[in-house]
Amino acid sequence: MATNRTFTMIKPDAVAAGHTGAISKMIEEAGFRIVAMKKTKLSAELAGQFYEIHKERPFYGELCKYMSSGPIVPMILEKENAVEDFRKLIGATDPKKAAPGTIRALFAKSIDANAIHGSDSDANAEIEGNFFFSQFERY
Ligand code: RTP
Ligand code: MG
Repeated sequence: MATNRTFTMIKPDAVAAGHTGAISKMIEEAGFRIVAMKKTKLSAELAGQFYEIHKERPFYGELCKYMSSGPIVPMILEKENAVEDFRKLIGATDPKKAAPGTIRALFAKSIDANAIHGSDSDANAEIEGNFFFSQFERY
């Protein structure tokens, strides 16, 4: 099961710009099934916990501040080869380098405000999904 699921968040810039619907539509049209979804907001402390793996990176402080700056839309998604296929759908971290037609190429403003998150492994997809959703919120 874990190998067919990934985790994503529509980030504060894209939610604030009103792109939640357009991005969700792209996700479903690419063949992902939405297993769980909600609108919520992280405190700086919770953002710090979520991005703990990046604690030593120079952009960690900015990242936590940004990710707690407004509402986000986390989701658990299901599809064959979910983690890899979803990373292809969102494109490179820096929208200037993201392939045309990818979610970041279409909606991201900068490398920091880059519209969307996608888990980078099955193990992290599991951890990140558990961070936001209980077993009663997955269908
Ligand atoms: P994400 O985790 O959000 O899907 O992004 P990613 O795998 O493509 O990139 P990652 O290396 O995991 O970095 C997490 C987020 O930190 C911000 N970042 N800023 N200024 C920088 O050099 C820099 N590098 C990364 C981005 O918002 C990135 O999505
Ligand atoms: Mg990452």
